[in-house]
Amino acid sequence: MMSKLRLGVNIDHVATIRNARGGVHPDPVKLALMAERAGADGITAHLREDRRHISDMDIRDLLKEISLPLNLEIAPTPEMLGIALNCRPNACCIVPEKRKELTTEGGLDVKGLYTHLLPYVEKLMKVGCRVSLFIDPDLEQVKASSEIGASTIEIHTGQYCDLSGGRRQEELNRIIKAAKLGHSLGLEIHAGHGLNYDTVEDIAAIPEIMELNIGHFLIGEAIFFGLDSTIIKMRALMDKGRSRIKKNK
Ligand code: PXP
Repeated sequence: MMSKLRLGVNIDHVATIRNARGGVHPDPVKLALMAERAGADGITAHLREDRRHISDMDIRDLLKEISLPLNLEIAPTPEMLGIALNCRPNACCIVPEKRKELTTEGGLDVKGLYTHLLPYVEKLMKVGCRVSLFIDPDLEQVKASSEIGASTIEIHTGQYCDLSGGRRQEELNRIIKAAKLGHSLGLEIHAGHGLNYDTVEDIAAIPEIMELNIGHFLIGEAIFFGLDSTIIKMRALMDKGRSRIKKNK
């Protein structure tokens, strides 16, 4: 349980900036290679139905050029399943997707969409993909994720990051309970969304969590301070949060 907490760097917003001018600069693959040198443990990219940031070509290039594992985020649609089965990334994180949202708004309703999601999970697992389901910290969703046969859940930390004071603490308690239940059911536990320097430590201090996926803050902060120092600082805060576990034992 106490193995190193992995950092997955989500590179979507490098592609957002590139697409603003329609050219090739800045290149998200180049950033992925820099993130690797700066100490990232994985690269995450969300291929959206509307291709607003990451493109199909980016996914192909990432798989060719990076040596870190690629975590491909996809909506549970036949098109995305076909792409994932064809390119076979190391991991697939299934996320809900709404056309008009600015970013992934809530977790997947695994319980409600069980029969729809089941073939997605089965087909991806069958080709050796680690399948992760992006869910809210809801115990029913954790149980459904285990029943459906996913290997991993990624707990949505967006609400926790948006709240403050006592309500943030309540949301943190929900995340802690969901992580504990998921771990006891044999799931690998990840977390992500909205994390920054202020919110990462408490999440890193949850011993069941093995991986954090962070994008928007890292890419934004890198504009001011460079990617290397941003990743190094995030890592240091993750380690600081992690070190609380030993103290608490
Ligand atoms: N995890 C998942 C499943 C996501 O959809 C996102 C956003 O694309 C992230 C993590 C990263 O969130 P953020 O960009 O807010 O760090």
